Amino acid sequence: MCGIVGYLGDKEAYGIITKGLERLEYRGYDSAGLALFNNNDIELCKTQGKVADLKSKAESAGVIHGNVGIGHTRWATHGEPNDQNAHPHYSNSGNLVIIHNGIIENYASIKEALEGRGYQFASDTDTEVLVNLIEDIQIKEGVKLGKAVQIALNQVVGAYAIAVFDKRKPDEIVVAKLGSPLAIGVGEGEYFIASDASPFIEYTNNAIYLEDEQLAIIRRGRDVKVRQIKGDKQVMPYVQELQLNLEQIEKAGYDHFMLKEIHEQPKAIKDTYRGRLRINSGIIKMAGVDNNLEKFLNAKRIIVVACGTSWHAGLVSEYIIEQLVRVPVEVEYASEFRYRNPIINQDDVVIAISQSGETADTLAAIKLAKENGAFVFGVCNVVGSSIARESHAGAYTHAGPEIGVASTKAFTTQITVLTLMALKLAKAKGRLSESEFHNHLVELETIPDKVADSLQIDAHVKYISSIFKDATNFLYLGRGYNFPVALEGALKLKEISYIHAEGYPAAEMKHGPIALIDEHMPVVVIATKKGHYEKVVSNIQEIKSRKGKIIAIVTEGDKDVKKLADHVIEVPETYEGLSPLLTTIPLQLLSYHIAVMRGCNVDQPRNLAKSVTVE
Ligand code: G6P
Repeated sequence: MCGIVGYLGDKEAYGIITKGLERLEYRGYDSAGLALFNNNDIELCKTQGKVADLKSKAESAGVIHGNVGIGHTRWATHGEPNDQNAHPHYSNSGNLVIIHNGIIENYASIKEALEGRGYQFASDTDTEVLVNLIEDIQIKEGVKLGKAVQIALNQVVGAYAIAVFDKRKPDEIVVAKLGSPLAIGVGEGEYFIASDASPFIEYTNNAIYLEDEQLAIIRRGRDVKVRQIKGDKQVMPYVQELQLNLEQIEKAGYDHFMLKEIHEQPKAIKDTYRGRLRINSGIIKMAGVDNNLEKFLNAKRIIVVACGTSWHAGLVSEYIIEQLVRVPVEVEYASEFRYRNPIINQDDVVIAISQSGETADTLAAIKLAKENGAFVFGVCNVVGSSIARESHAGAYTHAGPEIGVASTKAFTTQITVLTLMALKLAKAKGRLSESEFHNHLVELETIPDKVADSLQIDAHVKYISSIFKDATNFLYLGRGYNFPVALEGALKLKEISYIHAEGYPAAEMKHGPIALIDEHMPVVVIATKKGHYEKVVSNIQEIKSRKGKIIAIVTEGDKDVKKLADHVIEVPETYEGLSPLLTTIPLQLLSYHIAVMRGCNVDQPRNLAKSVTVE
């Protein structure tokens, strides 16, 4: 949903901004631009395309000097992706320049009013309206830039993280945030601005994360000044020390971030349960649950809200929690939940799952839940993210930065956290005996090694991918705990290879999708030993009779499915409830290899963005 970067210091800003934009390209990549202050003027370069296109354009135009600047990588909302709509945007006088992540919902009426006063617009964007509104206020009210930004933001409805720069005040950048993330890196005599900390991590570990409705004035040689947009109150900025390091956000020799992140899963899952899974003392330690145990134990219902892959992890948790804890679970798309006047009771626990912790619909859903008195528990990966802060309590997945747009390690670590919670609550409710609980913990501890074993089949999956890379449709089937995995497998393929794929509960196939099956239809079936195995084998027979091509995910040593399927991929045996952590691995690899073979941009699939901060 757009990435923003800025720099104010003594170094050349160009390299810092372009490298930062490359790290933020996961947030949008349909156009990019930058503005630098050089020779007492703003030099601006922008283009449709990726940051690489911006770099060649900027370098041939010589827009590379200056030690103050801002840059943007865009995911289009208002106006198609083209050069004009790319950010930064000038104000009419050319004095101001702005970058923006978010949406100004009432831009049309503001634009009309400004046009009435003679303002002209070169783009179709809401952002250009905002920068001209700021300029109009500067002129009319004779106020400084910070004040003008503040007055303007009090007039807009929507979401934003912005950085504005005035060429008459070249030692100052004004930033503000509502709904979209914004971090300020605090270095030695230099400041960085970014949508997340990755653009400045090699320069400083100190960052200020702006809160919603805060505005900051960043001046050379001065401390950052933060104030509330409404009411003007000054706020003492909190400088926090980051745990992130450079290695975590680089590809480490892999061709793509997605492949790196798939292979990181054994470690990521271990990091998720590290310190929580305490087999010797027979406990699971999770402060967010421990401190609110009564809320969970008294809950009549758990509502899970999430989007995309996180929603699939939520569906897996429905099976796990209902099975182990025996509390009804409802899994809701956050975007539907927030607008359908849902019934929320004070004794409901709402679990919000989000890798980024910034997804606008999920954030809005939990605000609604809170307003209705529910207890909100966040399961996020990004530390300090909006959803993590907005929740009453929560548990981080500790998967490390996930940069590939298609989510992989976030999914398996979300399932791991939710499994830990379910086991903990089941024990607290007396639903599991000591020995059952112990056995679950021991088995969970083996999962990272089993995931590592599942990754060994990479070459075989690559071979299968080469056979099916030109298919135009895929069907994914699973039952029970592996039905959500089928949905996730289909989503992965759609996202990165642009092949149409549907995930379905295996038994439901006969009520529709079976009509699609012929000799051209690859059908991926999850048919592990523990999980309605015989029933799934019958479903496989039905596919075979209609000449569908069967790719089956089976338990090591399987015999029956091997006789029927065209291709089998083995995963180690585990408890049924833990099997999604293993069966999902070959599906991630299958979509990855097919996408690579089709020449698709795996880490930056078309039209998608990693973090969807607009509704
Ligand atoms: C986008 C991403 C998906 C992700 C979804 C939810 O659509 O492309 O990979 O699953 O948002 O994101 P969240 O950060 O809330 O998990």
